[in-house]
Amino acid sequence: MRTPFVVGNWKLNKTIAEALALVTELKNQLGAVKGVAVGVAPTFVALPAVAKRLEGSTLATCAQDCFWESSGAWTGEVSAAQLADAGATWAIVGHSERRQFFGDRSDTVGKKARAALAAGLGAIVCVGESLAERDGGKTLAVVDEQLDGGLVGMDASVAPKLVIAYEPVWAIGTGRTATPGQAQEVHAHIRKRLADRLGAVAADAIRIQYGGSVKPSNAEALMAENDIDGALVGGASLEAADFIAIVKAARSA
Ligand code: PGA
Repeated sequence: MRTPFVVGNWKLNKTIAEALALVTELKNQLGAVKGVAVGVAPTFVALPAVAKRLEGSTLATCAQDCFWESSGAWTGEVSAAQLADAGATWAIVGHSERRQFFGDRSDTVGKKARAALAAGLGAIVCVGESLAERDGGKTLAVVDEQLDGGLVGMDASVAPKLVIAYEPVWAIGTGRTATPGQAQEVHAHIRKRLADRLGAVAADAIRIQYGGSVKPSNAEALMAENDIDGALVGGASLEAADFIAIVKAARSA
């Protein structure tokens, strides 16, 4: 059985003080939670403080991105090893906002994922189609292309440290969630493709999160689906009560 993994993606929100206030509450209420893995992804500058505050709990500190080179003349970038040094244990790569606004492509997302794993971090590889792509019947083809790019050079050994996040772009920050059935259809497809690429045992172990307007009111129904193993939560992760309710829904689903 896969342990669901719920990660709060804070995006460009919270000062260090605000981040510490939120994780202190999460640590108090979820620090010993069982049956579900939990992580938070603050901005890079808040990472060290958050990781330190979460010491002694099971909550993971995640980065929102990572660069593929380990050092050199890359102004503005942060390497996977530096993220690990700052206390991160996971890195999100290929988020649709990175793909849309910062030029991430499937091949560079794959490089980032490999760099994260090489530095000992887990990698959360995000995939998902736009509304035009869904309406054009291209959902599975888009997801396949993004997934294949993310998996280049990987084998079955990555399973414990690889998570796929299916995030339909039309559901991110829009309040419009995929129905559990719509999400499950794509998740099952992703798992089959993982099996083709990495083998059935690895595919069975790899967690596939859903993301896109996950809220306390829809979390349990989404996570009750067979192939939905947790959530990548944006807006609803910024308030402790909502995020805690989502974590609890993942545990009971
Ligand atoms: P949302 O964001 O929950 O605010 O839709 C999800 C994400 O972008 O990871």
